[in-house]
Amino acid sequence: MPEVCRLVVLISGSGSNLQAFIDSIARGELRASIVGVVTNKASATGLQRAQAANIPTEIIDHTQFATREQFDIELCARVQSYRPDLVILAGFMRILTPAFLRPFAGKLLNIHPSLLPKYPGLHTHQRALDAGDNAAGATVHFVTEQLDGGPAILQARVPILAGDNAEQIAARVLQVEHRIYPQAAQWFAENRVQLYNDRAVLDGAPLPNTGFIYQD
Ligand code: GRF
Repeated sequence: MPEVCRLVVLISGSGSNLQAFIDSIARGELRASIVGVVTNKASATGLQRAQAANIPTEIIDHTQFATREQFDIELCARVQSYRPDLVILAGFMRILTPAFLRPFAGKLLNIHPSLLPKYPGLHTHQRALDAGDNAAGATVHFVTEQLDGGPAILQARVPILAGDNAEQIAARVLQVEHRIYPQAAQWFAENRVQLYNDRAVLDGAPLPNTGFIYQD
């Protein structure tokens, strides 16, 4: 790893996780530099967070491409132009094809708002409520061709309290997302975590399928 890990962050929405990265870098906890923020949505309010932090931004409108793959080829070229060491999906609401995934294998992270391997896909908190779960959470994982199924790195739990609705759970989960996502990126920057033989490995030892369990 070069001295400062170069990050490109992909967003589609509010970018609160992007903000958590910006803040963690400013505090000196995450020793990395965000060299670009790329979005598929011109309306993504996270763009303003990037601009306020003087980070270059780009909009690549997916509706201007005939196929998912053509969009991914362009996205890949634009992301590559920043020479990232690590690419961070932070609320990037596009399913990516191998045209994007293969060139970034082992260098691409996502955060998913559930206790993976439970509840890949959408509506995770409602599904946890419907199942009567007493906990929800978020998981940082390497991205592979399996949707929300790549090897987990770091997972945080929050309680589901009596009377909670999905929005209340989402707000509680977001708070822990903001702690674990920069932490996982710092492990990558320090070369402590790698994708090896389709497993996430931390300090030389393969992680369980939940990833490392975060303790406050
Ligand atoms: C988060 O809930 C994250 O788990 C999911 O997308 C949301 C992004 O939120 N992948 P934000 O744009 O970072 O605020």
